[in-house]
Amino acid sequence: MSMNRAYDFRVNWPINPAAPADSHEAKAPFVDNGSGPISPERYYSLDWMERERTRLWARVWNWAGRVEDIPEPGDFLNFRIGRESFIVIRGDDGVVRAFFNVCPHRGNRLLGGETGSLANGITCPFHNWRFAFDGTIEHVTDRETFRPEALCRDLNLGEVRCEIWEGFIFVNMDPDAPPLVEHLGPLPEHALPYRLADMRIIRRVQSVWEANWKVGVDGFAEAYHVHCIHPQILPVFNDYHSQIDLYPNGMTRAITKFAEESPRLESVELTPGLKAMMAEVGLDPETFEGTVADVRPAVQQAKRRRAGDLGLDWSAFLDGQLTDDWNYFIFPNILLGLHPEGANLLYFRPHPHDPRRFVFDVIILMHPQKDRSIRPPAYMGLPDDADLSGETPAETIVVDWREGGLGELFDQDSNLFTQIQEGVESLGFRGAILSGQEQRVGHFHAELDRYMGE
Ligand code: FES
Ligand SMILES: [Fe+2]
Repeated sequence: MSMNRAYDFRVNWPINPAAPADSHEAKAPFVDNGSGPISPERYYSLDWMERERTRLWARVWNWAGRVEDIPEPGDFLNFRIGRESFIVIRGDDGVVRAFFNVCPHRGNRLLGGETGSLANGITCPFHNWRFAFDGTIEHVTDRETFRPEALCRDLNLGEVRCEIWEGFIFVNMDPDAPPLVEHLGPLPEHALPYRLADMRIIRRVQSVWEANWKVGVDGFAEAYHVHCIHPQILPVFNDYHSQIDLYPNGMTRAITKFAEESPRLESVELTPGLKAMMAEVGLDPETFEGTVADVRPAVQQAKRRRAGDLGLDWSAFLDGQLTDDWNYFIFPNILLGLHPEGANLLYFRPHPHDPRRFVFDVIILMHPQKDRSIRPPAYMGLPDDADLSGETPAETIVVDWREGGLGELFDQDSNLFTQIQEGVESLGFRGAILSGQEQRVGHFHAELDRYMGE
């Protein structure tokens, strides 16, 4: 496929133009978000950041953790986003609930740490008030010293909504928000073959990057920059012919082909990158008789054969899903790349106080396995010796982005994003201009603007 065909931004590059409308690979209808510039102050203004606190973060579904991390009554995790902190805890009845991590007495934080297990309720360290796992008040220290009317107020923990999709626990501070699965639009249906509930987090690396969280979302939501910043993957990644789909509620998807080189290269013979990708799935590049364009289908067939040999049922996957990146954006801050072997979740959270920083989690989920011959796609940056058994919860590894360690691809972006943050703050910057390749960015900001009342 050449880059020269007339480009239609309403259509871009469907992965399978013949796909029936009910197929998971069907191209979604075009959504017109206009072509106006994106106002730059959203990336640095403290005032904008404070408005996001109430207009955005307090109204959306925020991903807090995985259910397998809190299997028993009293098991909890502490989820932080911006200046908020939530206790997500399993009750004696087995139900997972979420509460503001705030004591109703004088506002102290109840629990520190990331995760843990409690035996006798939730006790505040300030004056020893105690709450049951379902948030109800159980003990007020020196109760007789309070005026009765003071204790007539609500003494229970402030509960927030908590809903679970495929093992992912989400919380929402807005009692009127639509249900989580409704917010997720086509994703719950599209994700079924991947069995995300059975996957386990096998690696979680966290770092604080020197940019606004939206610089992060924007940067990872387009492949337009790949030829400049990550040219090393062009031999195995068709950065240009992505299918981009825009859905309701700010959700977007990009399907981008792996095992197919970028049209910017136009190789006539198999390149080392393609050969390596073939070898990974047990194909011998030296005896391969096909052309460069035949590699992707050959890799798909080889992967399907090997899955069959290993007793895995991949029959629900389309061929393209075996090689390509099917990448979903869950508004406002999750990018989820789906592959049969595992998933890559990028999580962008605002810094508590600084609009010029964000907390970035790079998370790899996989189907637990002993057989090390099944690997997640190399772009995820999983170390060779990683434990794929999923038996012990993965510790969060905190790294300094300046020292690297997130994987080559991510290390390239961390440097870039610092430069973008500086540039967008210049008085000389007039606001982003988007191509059709960057439609996901435009769709994200259009939804954000609706939340912000812009
Ligand atoms: S602030 Fe929690 S018991 Fe006083
Ligand atoms: Fe990048």
